[in-house]
Amino acid sequence: MTRKIYILNGPNLNLLGKREPEIYGHDTLADVEAACAAVGREANLDVTLLQSNHEGALIDWIHEARENAAGIIINPAAFTHTSVAILDALKTFDGPVLEVHISNVHQRESFRHHSYVSLRADGVIAGFGVEGYALAMRRMSSLLT
Ligand code: DQA
Repeated sequence: MTRKIYILNGPNLNLLGKREPEIYGHDTLADVEAACAAVGREANLDVTLLQSNHEGALIDWIHEARENAAGIIINPAAFTHTSVAILDALKTFDGPVLEVHISNVHQRESFRHHSYVSLRADGVIAGFGVEGYALAMRRMSSLLT
């Protein structure tokens, strides 16, 4: 049986590849989706990658994942550091939740050191560049088997 994984991305990540490439690299979100889909094909996991600049849209997708997805990989971007609402939504989801940050947030400004989402996440990857998403897919596969 192929299970679905939601890969959710927060604000400004639509500009991945163009935005501060010295921090986030040159790969785009489409490249991330292709890398995750390749891992998914090996692991029988079907990837749905979504991005929004709006907090409510991310929350709606988390609610949708309750019915549709076996696991959530989320890079909440700046909402990581501000959103109790995204944390609360993730708490309604029963499956594994993995948090990804492209940059090493702990090496950056102190306001990036705290994550609300980490209170729910089963694992966190930070500072592995966009490769972090594919690594999270591998971890998702082992958590689901
Ligand atoms: C980020 C880190 C956040 O602090 C920042 O607001 C982002 C991206 C990352 O992937 O490194 O937008 O989540």
